[in-house]
Amino acid sequence: MRLSVAVASLLVAWLAGLGCIQAVTLEVNEGNTTCIKAELSATFSITYNSSSSTRTVTVSLPNSTTVDADRSSCGADGSSPWLVAVFGTGHEMGMSFSTNSVMYSVANLTLQYNLSDASVFPEANRSDVVTVVVPSVGIWATMNTTYRCMSPSTFVGEAAVTFSDMRLEAYMPGNDLSPTESVCTADQTSTTAPPTTAGTTTTAAPAPTPPGTPERGTYSVNNLNGTVCLLAQMALQLNVSYFSPSQNKTVRELVNLTPNLTRSSGSCEAGSASLVLAQEGSSTLNFTFTLNSTSNKYHLSGIALLANLSDAAAPFSAGNASLDYLRSTLGRSYICNAEQTLVVVTTFSLNTFRLQVQPFEVTTNQFATAEECQTDQDKMLIPIVVGAALAGLVLIVLIAYLIGRRRSHAGYQTI
Ligand SMILES: *[C@@H]1O[C@H](CO)[C@@H](O)[C@H](O)[C@H]1NC(C)=O
Ligand SMILES: *[C@@H]1O[C@H](CO)[C@@H](O)[C@H](O)[C@H]1NC(C)=O
Ligand SMILES: *[C@@H]1O[C@H](CO)[C@@H](O)[C@H](O)[C@H]1NC(C)=O
Ligand SMILES: *[C@@H]1O[C@H](CO)[C@@H](O)[C@H](O)[C@H]1NC(C)=O
Ligand SMILES: *[C@@H]1O[C@H](CO)[C@@H](O)[C@H](O)[C@H]1NC(C)=O
Ligand SMILES: *[C@@H]1O[C@H](CO)[C@@H](O)[C@H](O)[C@H]1NC(C)=O
Ligand SMILES: *[C@@H]1O[C@H](CO)[C@@H](O)[C@H](O)[C@H]1NC(C)=O
Ligand SMILES: *[C@@H]1O[C@H](CO)[C@@H](O)[C@H](O)[C@H]1NC(C)=O
Ligand SMILES: *[C@@H]1O[C@H](CO)[C@@H](O)[C@H](O)[C@H]1NC(C)=O
Ligand SMILES: *[C@@H]1O[C@H](CO)[C@@H](O)[C@H](O)[C@H]1NC(C)=O
Ligand SMILES: *[C@@H]1O[C@H](CO)[C@@H](O)[C@H](O)[C@H]1NC(C)=O
Ligand SMILES: *[C@@H]1O[C@H](CO)[C@@H](O)[C@H](O)[C@H]1NC(C)=O
Repeated sequence: MRLSVAVASLLVAWLAGLGCIQAVTLEVNEGNTTCIKAELSATFSITYNSSSSTRTVTVSLPNSTTVDADRSSCGADGSSPWLVAVFGTGHEMGMSFSTNSVMYSVANLTLQYNLSDASVFPEANRSDVVTVVVPSVGIWATMNTTYRCMSPSTFVGEAAVTFSDMRLEAYMPGNDLSPTESVCTADQTSTTAPPTTAGTTTTAAPAPTPPGTPERGTYSVNNLNGTVCLLAQMALQLNVSYFSPSQNKTVRELVNLTPNLTRSSGSCEAGSASLVLAQEGSSTLNFTFTLNSTSNKYHLSGIALLANLSDAAAPFSAGNASLDYLRSTLGRSYICNAEQTLVVVTTFSLNTFRLQVQPFEVTTNQFATAEECQTDQDKMLIPIVVGAALAGLVLIVLIAYLIGRRRSHAGYQTI
């Protein structure tokens, strides 16, 4: 009797939790300093088997959620900082963080639920504790800033986790959330969205502001003996499309490579050379150049990208190893000042601007004589054509004048 009352009141508590999603504040401390702080509302959508059917319940993180101080950690011992929040009887949510000194991210999100909690999982035909991991949730922020995402964002693994009204920071420089915020894409579009006026049926989400023309960077690859074997100067822009769980649709994003945050590495071999551009924590772009030793021609044969995008559920990866771009001759460099679009796959293309590369036979750290791309040649052709036309016109006028003069001279002689 008493047990059933208790169960009933718990049920009421859960239902209340469902009706009004509560915001909770969670903190991980070490000594007197706070290293992780999160203010958020969370709901979990969990599917389980009852004796008769498959059921789905929605559970929200209750007000009574606490941080398990023993298992949470600031990562002082070299491990990753970890937040473990416990609630109810044996349920918990964990978040582990990682950083590359420029940005930090939620490396993984774990959810643990106790199927023997009959108030949440009535008639479950199992009674064990289930742990699900939602990897790469795409929560990213610049160091020393607070990640802010008021819009609901759902991360789907074996259970769906929805966060809203979220403000979170790890690797905190002070004991309170940093005033500077890294705002998630969903919030950026919703704040700039025009108010929906009655009568308009569809309002397209505004495209994120284009990042403008990228900056040009100079990149090189060294041989084992320290001499430069590959040289490149170019401005690069990624054009990717991916599914955004928070917006529940495929979004297109333009990302510029920032040269002073990008490191180059790679390798030079007899028949192929590679250039790897890594923008710390955000993207790694891999170029492969292939040399045909019969024809002494080289070309860009492969491009691969791995990128952490602000709004994606998982890192974006795409590549193509059978491309044929930037064709030139051994001993020469390739130059193209005009914008070029290198299509890699349908979801990823690379825009290049003011590009010059030489993947083979670089001597004394300098580009050899350049072969120009067709677009640049065509652009050069316009003044040449105009010049030739003008010269032709002058020549015609001159010939006409000379003929005229000869005719009039002839006239004099006959008289
Ligand atoms: C925490 O603060 C107290 C009082 O300000 C101070 O005495 C103590 O040394 C501090 N502990 C650490 C680990 O910084
Ligand atoms: C439910 O039971 C079916 C059949 O045994 C099984 O395939 C499925 O994985 C179970 N679902 C869960 C959430 O345990
Ligand atoms: C649990 O239920 C599912 C379907 O509802 C069934 O297939 C499965 O055998 C059940 N498992 C146990 C341990 O009873
Ligand atoms: C799971 O729930 C049951 C019943 O509510 C409880 O007895 C058990 O201790 C819980 N398990 C854990 C790991 O907390
Ligand atoms: C998630 O992060 C925690 C803490 O860093 C770690 O112990 C755990 O192994 C990670 N799980 C996965 C699947 O990566
Ligand atoms: C973050 O702030 C701390 C303390 O103010 C400072 O030492 C650190 O260099 C900052 N990190 C970055 C990436 O700005
Ligand atoms: C460095 O190594 C490359 C081949 O690996 C060779 O062609 C070049 O001559 C070497 N340069 C020097 C200075 O040893
Ligand atoms: C990005 O790619 C899409 C699809 O290929 C294309 O329609 C769009 O014009 C591209 N945008 C830019 C700025 O290159
Ligand atoms: C996502 O969009 C699809 C189709 O546009 C819709 O069927 C689905 O219910 C949406 N899901 C969520 C979680 O909004
Ligand atoms: C990178 O370059 C930009 C613009 O040139 C500059 O504002 C920024 O401070 C530079 N960042 C670093 C880390 O050097
Ligand atoms: C993406 O983020 C993860 C987790 O922080 C990191 O390990 C990985 O190197 C990043 N990827 C790229 C391409 O920078
Ligand atoms: C190299 O070039 C020659 C001559 O143009 C061509 O016949 C051959 O197929 C090319 N080899 C490769 C591997 O592309």
